[in-house]
Amino acid sequence: MLAGKRILLVISGGIAAYKSLDLIRRLRERGASVRCVLTRAAKEFVTPLAVETLSRERAYDELFDLTAEHEIGHIRLARDCDIVVVAPATANILAGMAQGFAGDLATTVLLATDRPVLAAPAMNYVMWANPATVANIETLRLRGVSFVGPETGELAEGETGAGRMSEPLAIVDAIEKRLSVDAPLSGTRAIVTSGPTYEPIDPVRYIANRSSGKQGHAIATALAALGAETTLVSGPTRLADPPGCRVVHVETAQQMLAASLSALPADVAVCAAAVADWRPAHPGNAKLKKTEGGVPPGIALAENPDILATLSRHAQRPRLVVGFAAETENLLAHAAAKRQRKGCDWIVANDVGEGTGTFGGDCNRVHVIDGAGTESWDPMGKDEVARRLARRIAAAIAGAA
Ligand code: CTP
Repeated sequence: MLAGKRILLVISGGIAAYKSLDLIRRLRERGASVRCVLTRAAKEFVTPLAVETLSRERAYDELFDLTAEHEIGHIRLARDCDIVVVAPATANILAGMAQGFAGDLATTVLLATDRPVLAAPAMNYVMWANPATVANIETLRLRGVSFVGPETGELAEGETGAGRMSEPLAIVDAIEKRLSVDAPLSGTRAIVTSGPTYEPIDPVRYIANRSSGKQGHAIATALAALGAETTLVSGPTRLADPPGCRVVHVETAQQMLAASLSALPADVAVCAAAVADWRPAHPGNAKLKKTEGGVPPGIALAENPDILATLSRHAQRPRLVVGFAAETENLLAHAAAKRQRKGCDWIVANDVGEGTGTFGGDCNRVHVIDGAGTESWDPMGKDEVARRLARRIAAAIAGAA
């Protein structure tokens, strides 16, 4: 279950840091790759050389390490992994995480990551029971951080109580558990279309629309985060390629269709792209010239293929096909009709009328229409819409399995 998983291990400064060396070994035995970040205090207990030797990766320890910034920035370090594990997690680093500090590489990485975080606390039992630590743990739990341990037993100072870091094998089990909870779509394949299409008129001009691709890219990110092997077929956008996805860049609707079909077979398809319905039928090879006092040229249009309808009716139809309906009036009625017409399972209806700010904006108000009815969601960020939709997709796939 851990084979191929990428683990970012943050080692903070406690005596239990020596156990982290064994943790690295155990994780690698199970086929995971481990990259480590050490706090300054951690280096008092374990050496970067020992960590590098066991992990067979470079150990990172300073925020402003220019070579590291050049090779791999701290943002990438925070995201190029499947899970971030903090072991040992001292009272100090937990407080830093709860407060959102970013004073060194370890806390910066923890603040910048969008991956699941698991912490294995280790500290004196009085520090563990201190209301400040209790409140920090509560805050972190509410934000989705999970914990393994601490265990009760003899502590480094010869005292007995709750504060001992869990044994490496228990941490390995907790990592496996957290990854399986977080990856309900592992073993499935997803296709997501996103962004606008550009339909050429001539070599310099094209017909396009205002889609930013934000919603589609967020959906691809959310599906990949739940473990789906995700192909994002993206029209031209200003967005960076989302982490963990295979991205195919296209311009026209015809290219988007071809790329989507070559990503089959898949379990899920989400068509969030704003595909141009029409394309210039005869795009010129040379630039259309303006003639003095001449008649404006007419552009003959041809109908574009419908990617959503094609996937919905394909012999290799994904188990779940989800479309979007961008409407400016009669939202629910038009969207429900569109679902029937295109043959998809769900349609996510959103109002893109003037003043809604949906196109290009960060917020969305959607209604999910499926065979059972309509579910209206409160207005929320596009990232949150994506995460909720991905969780709904995971539940539907699990239910149908
Ligand atoms: N869609 C598609 N291929 C097309 C047109 C639309 O895959 N050629 C998909 C979109 O990605 C979206 C859904 O179909 O999931 C509906 O898109 P929308 O633009 O709302 O619908 P249209 O089919 O273009 O209908 P209309 O413009 O008449 O509202």
